[in-house]
Amino acid sequence: MKALVIGSGGREHAIVWKLLQSPKVSKVYAAPGNGGTAGFVYESGKKCENVDLLGRDICEAEIQNALIRYVKKEKIGLTIVGPEAPLAAGIADRFNEAGLPVVGPEKKAAMLESSKAYAKSFMERYGVRAARSHTFTDAEKALEAAKKHFAGSREKAAVPPLVIKADGLAAGKGVVIASGIKEAEETIVSFMKDEKLGGAGKTVVLEEFLEGGEVSVLAAVSTGKAGCILPFAPARDHKRRFDNDQGPNTGGMGAIAPAPDFSAAARGDFEEAILKPTLKGIKAEGFDYRGFIFFGLMVKDASCRLLEYNVRLGDPETQAVLPLMKSDFAELCLSIVNGGLDSFSLTWKPGAVCAPVAVAEGYPGEYRKGDAIAFNETAFAKTGAVLFAAGAVRGPGGSGGSGLRTAGGRVLAVSAYGAGPEEAQRKAYAAMDAVAFEGMAYRRDIGWS
Ligand code: AMP
Ligand code: GLY
Repeated sequence: MKALVIGSGGREHAIVWKLLQSPKVSKVYAAPGNGGTAGFVYESGKKCENVDLLGRDICEAEIQNALIRYVKKEKIGLTIVGPEAPLAAGIADRFNEAGLPVVGPEKKAAMLESSKAYAKSFMERYGVRAARSHTFTDAEKALEAAKKHFAGSREKAAVPPLVIKADGLAAGKGVVIASGIKEAEETIVSFMKDEKLGGAGKTVVLEEFLEGGEVSVLAAVSTGKAGCILPFAPARDHKRRFDNDQGPNTGGMGAIAPAPDFSAAARGDFEEAILKPTLKGIKAEGFDYRGFIFFGLMVKDASCRLLEYNVRLGDPETQAVLPLMKSDFAELCLSIVNGGLDSFSLTWKPGAVCAPVAVAEGYPGEYRKGDAIAFNETAFAKTGAVLFAAGAVRGPGGSGGSGLRTAGGRVLAVSAYGAGPEEAQRKAYAAMDAVAFEGMAYRRDIGWS
């Protein structure tokens, strides 16, 4: 079988890598892919080819049509959609109408990610345990609620922050944790009145601030007669740019799996309070949801609350979770699409995976581009790690070159497996030492403590 992976990030490179390990898969295409997806030497000796149908000037509908034509022409048996934007634009609906197997929920269900207000109303309707919140379409009312929240904060020093979330997709810029009224007012005005995020911020959700450890649970979902949600090994992203969780939020500076703070008790609590009601809701809404779901959890004392749903796999969590998965990923995807997920036996390696991300100088602000990425193959190979490219394209690599050049903020992840956390972390950083580019930066504390 041939497979197609839609997207261009590190997550998609990890999906390609894992798919190519399946005896069921002969070849993978990535649209548009990145410098790593194609040109990378896969252990299986099989290949991935990038297909660039996604020209900048063509509209979403044309992209979808072009992909469908390509899948038919190449007789591709399975398409996996990586990012949220095409799902929110209804790509799975188009594939389903054309009778082409696709892993990704229909547009209606993608609203669980594309509208935070919708996701919140879903959580309430089906009793999914989440942070308390209110949704506002009127800026004045939101400002009033923020004032009320912070009222008396001068006398009572310990008023908790207020979490302000733009309703729509905002590429990681839609959540602000305001620690005082001034910041809250500025955020509400910029989202709702000045439309800093375009339409995405016209509606906002004000949410209680939760404390605890964050855990990302990625899962496979398949509706149909025996609908089920099959959770993966828990993971943790590290969102802040600098060590010890300092500095601005990013798209993710590294991930580990399995995550700490997810004891058997916490997992049981997650299944009862979050997973089961979510499945009930997905069924009750009548969604055609055959894809992945991502539960962003806050866990405290083995009790879980849901912060967000994503309707796809996480990035960079996927780069840590897939190397830990023993099961055949293509078979898993086929059971999502064709049924049988409820009896799929998902198995995991016993150890741990650490996947720090290297970013370009300046990220998450304006960043450098076009630098050659050097790669010490012998030193890297000793660690057994895998390199997953993200913002990297093919280009002359310089001496000891990898054949890659930087082209994005998050450039690559190195993903190392170890028998335990300590070994995984040590190998991941040894692998990182074997990679170099001008302005390369990464956190040194991606790990379990
Ligand atoms: P979201 O896009 O909803 O995941 O928010 C981005 C990040 O903001 C999360 O990963 C958390 O680190 C943080 N966050 C979101 N909601 C809350 C909350 N209610 N309490 C504390 N932190 C939050
Ligand atoms: N790592 C969080 C995300 O994929 O949105």
